[in-house]
Amino acid sequence: MKVSSYHEEEYLAKSSYHEEGEEYLEGSTYIREGEEEYLKETETDIDIINKMCAYLNKKRISSALESPSTFYRPTSGEDEDRLHCVHLMLKYAWKYNFAAPIKGLLCSDAGAKVLDVGCGLGIWTLEMASEFPLAKFYGIDSVSYFPESVSPKNVEFLEANILHGLPYKDAEFDYVFARELIFAFQPSDFENIVMKEILRVVKPGGYIEFVESELEGHISTKALLRWNNEGMKPWINSLNIDTTINCRLQEIFTNTNQLKNISEQRIKIPFGRSNDFVGEFAAETTMQYIKSMAELLIPFMKLTHEEYYNLTKEIDKEFRDEKSASYFWNRRITAMKI
Ligand SMILES: C[S@@+](CC[C@H](N)C(=O)[O-])C[C@H]1O[C@@H](n2cnc3c(N)ncnc32)[C@H](O)[C@@H]1O
Repeated sequence: MKVSSYHEEEYLAKSSYHEEGEEYLEGSTYIREGEEEYLKETETDIDIINKMCAYLNKKRISSALESPSTFYRPTSGEDEDRLHCVHLMLKYAWKYNFAAPIKGLLCSDAGAKVLDVGCGLGIWTLEMASEFPLAKFYGIDSVSYFPESVSPKNVEFLEANILHGLPYKDAEFDYVFARELIFAFQPSDFENIVMKEILRVVKPGGYIEFVESELEGHISTKALLRWNNEGMKPWINSLNIDTTINCRLQEIFTNTNQLKNISEQRIKIPFGRSNDFVGEFAAETTMQYIKSMAELLIPFMKLTHEEYYNLTKEIDKEFRDEKSASYFWNRRITAMKI
């Protein structure tokens, strides 16, 4: 089975590259060679920037030590804001909401069915559903953060825990999408339950796609490094999370023996307000996350609330500094069910 090597693409890089038989990125247009499918952004840069500006202008001034939460569960308004912010950041960095070559199907009247696993607030699902009114979108999450009454009407949300099995029949979906989900699971559960369930519900010839960020970034500044080394890392270790599983997705996909055309791209996302909108959004989401993690990390860091608050101020200052070179990778992996 052929597994394509992944491409590294600096965000906003306009240069194109092309390896024989592989997909390539050119500006904001995604083209898969040999297929008559072209993904062109339907939303312009200006539209996305306007949304990002509107977001930043209305963002809440958060009290630093609001609510405890985990990485995976948006439990407060703060966390909801963060998921919106992450959505806009990734949309602007990648220039599109999906990479699998399914646009033709979504635009057709074939009644394509799409599942968003761990849909959270349902932001991606709702955006896709209004862009592709002829397709039907389903979002599931183990907690009902998604809206109760939805518009557009081609969306259905359901509270369901994938570890207990997906409430759908075999081969029901043309495309299954998951974003920022993988670290919610122990690696064995991910491989033995989550992947199996996703592969069960996707049709032969259908696609799956994962979009996953690194749990730990590449950090160049002192206060953020301290927060990471003394707080985040010990906390992650206490949960027995495999922090490398996002890098092994190609291997995991291959080992299923049920997937082909496995393709991975990754994009570098800088933290730092001097780094354009993407950097500003990465800084914004990270600050929101750091603040929301206060109650969980304070015991690991042996700090008072005031000391933790002061550390958040230092990190915020670092993000404004032009010399901040910290970044993290976001990966996008697609494959077709055999
Ligand atoms: C970081 S959030 C990402 C949400 C959404 N995919 C997005 O990109 O905005 C991860 C989501 O996965 C959900 N989740 C975690 N474990 C799950 C499970 N066992 N079954 C279904 N959803 C789960 C969480 O409730 C949370 O909403």
